[in-house]
Amino acid sequence: MNKIVIAIDGYSGCGKSSTAKAVAKDLGYTYIDSGAMYRAATLHFLNNFLSPANPHDVEKGLKSLEISFHLNPDTLKQETYLNGLNVENEIRTMRISNKVSEIATIAGIRKELVAQQQRLGKKKGVVMDGRDIGSVVFPNADLKVFMTADLDTRAVRRQEELLEKGELVDLEDIRTNLAERDRVDSSRAESPLKKMPDAVEVDTSNITFAEQVGKIVHAARQII
Ligand code: C5P
Repeated sequence: MNKIVIAIDGYSGCGKSSTAKAVAKDLGYTYIDSGAMYRAATLHFLNNFLSPANPHDVEKGLKSLEISFHLNPDTLKQETYLNGLNVENEIRTMRISNKVSEIATIAGIRKELVAQQQRLGKKKGVVMDGRDIGSVVFPNADLKVFMTADLDTRAVRRQEELLEKGELVDLEDIRTNLAERDRVDSSRAESPLKKMPDAVEVDTSNITFAEQVGKIVHAARQII
């Protein structure tokens, strides 16, 4: 069977990661969370007091940055590791969410992470989600999806996700963070978030999780 690359882009908190994961599982593909890579880079810069605005710090930060995905034997899930340490939970906290879009505007950081993402997707049979996957990382992706949902729906869903992980965050703070990340991600000079003309749009505001996964799997099977 023909293996393809599926690129899923869209706004913050509209369920891209969980959807992409489920699509990959259904098709027997590898799922790659490119946002986790920007989040891990953010944690690395914060932990080492490096400023993304200082080119010397960026160079230093990138030299000592190693991001990988491995199966965690305890959770049996593929999780994010930074320089050999599991950072899966830490990178999802509001501390990182509030900083990540700033880190993601830096051209040198994007260049390095995009190169890693392209290497990870080389063998095809991959579902990758992010902001520039269909435009920059895999401009020739076989299937491009652009996911959207209204801001209030996204904020409520994100609050539930954080609560499940034990972090209680005010709904208004989440709403502000999502809106601000959308603004920065869509207006930055480097690889801004935009819907590609050849992308299929999936609005998840009023459909169930199973429906959104089903739509993408159906579109993929038409090509495979
Ligand atoms: O997908 P997630 O919400 O975890 O991504 C966190 C942030 O990382 C985004 O708000 C964006 O600033 C950045 N990002 C990016 N390009 C990607 C993936 C994520 O700029 N491909």
